[in-house]
Amino acid sequence: MSPLVSELHLYDIANVKGVAADLSHCNTPSQVLDFTGPSELANCLKGVDVVVIPAGVPRKPGMTRDDLFNINASIVKSLVEAVADNCPEAFIHIISNPVNSTVPIAAEVLKQKGVYNPKKLFGVTTLDVVRANTFVAQKKNLNLIDVDVPVVGGHAGITILPLLSKTRPSVTFTDEETEQLTKRIQNAGTEVVEAKAGAGSATLSMAYAAARFVESSLRALAGDPDVYECTFVQSELTELPFFASRVKLGKNGVESIISADLEGVTEYEAKALEALKSELKVSIEKGIEFVHKQQ
Ligand code: LMR
Repeated sequence: MSPLVSELHLYDIANVKGVAADLSHCNTPSQVLDFTGPSELANCLKGVDVVVIPAGVPRKPGMTRDDLFNINASIVKSLVEAVADNCPEAFIHIISNPVNSTVPIAAEVLKQKGVYNPKKLFGVTTLDVVRANTFVAQKKNLNLIDVDVPVVGGHAGITILPLLSKTRPSVTFTDEETEQLTKRIQNAGTEVVEAKAGAGSATLSMAYAAARFVESSLRALAGDPDVYECTFVQSELTELPFFASRVKLGKNGVESIISADLEGVTEYEAKALEALKSELKVSIEKGIEFVHKQQ
């Protein structure tokens, strides 16, 4: 749908032709090309500006995102190896869970290939912001279009930290509202997994959020000087090597990491921030170790 997309390359190990034929009938300016299986992956990737990786298996009820590690880690690793070989300059958007580990996996793979650019590797956490905006607007009867809640940390359970005190437009929450909204935003992925009852996790809201992040990236690549998104990136905001926060996007990827959201947070948020660090650290280290073990 975006006029900023000139060509859309679709890759999967099966069933791509039908999806591409279907999408190609939309009267939009972009050309849709399909690529099936590892032998066509290099051609899929050559010359692209943005690579979006949502590949892998979804959760079933009762599972955490980390339970997907064993399958999805290898999938992300091999896809990022191909990205490194064929389009090392591209923005890389990682959606595959557990994002808290798959982004560090991608970073290590790119480092091994000698092409790691931390400004161009992103864990897509836009869905957390989309959810936070929706739930806050509903709770406080706000015009949804105006609401913007920064969500920091990571993308699993308590590592998802909505900074409700930084909501724009400025709005106040009771302690009870803060607790209830924070928990709902942290568990929103699980809410969908349970509602789908074994048929997977969020796909439509995820696609909506991913499309927003791609659109923002394409705007930044096109020279728009005013593009900000929350995303999980290499960061020095905390002592952790990766952290989700609001960043300014530019032609070369992350132009700056916005620290202001973490300043002057409430006591509740400060405690939650400290509490998430140990879990996020373990997930990041698990990803890094996975790549090193395979050497
Ligand atoms: C989500 O937040 O909906 C995704 O990360 C998928 C999941 O497993 O929850």
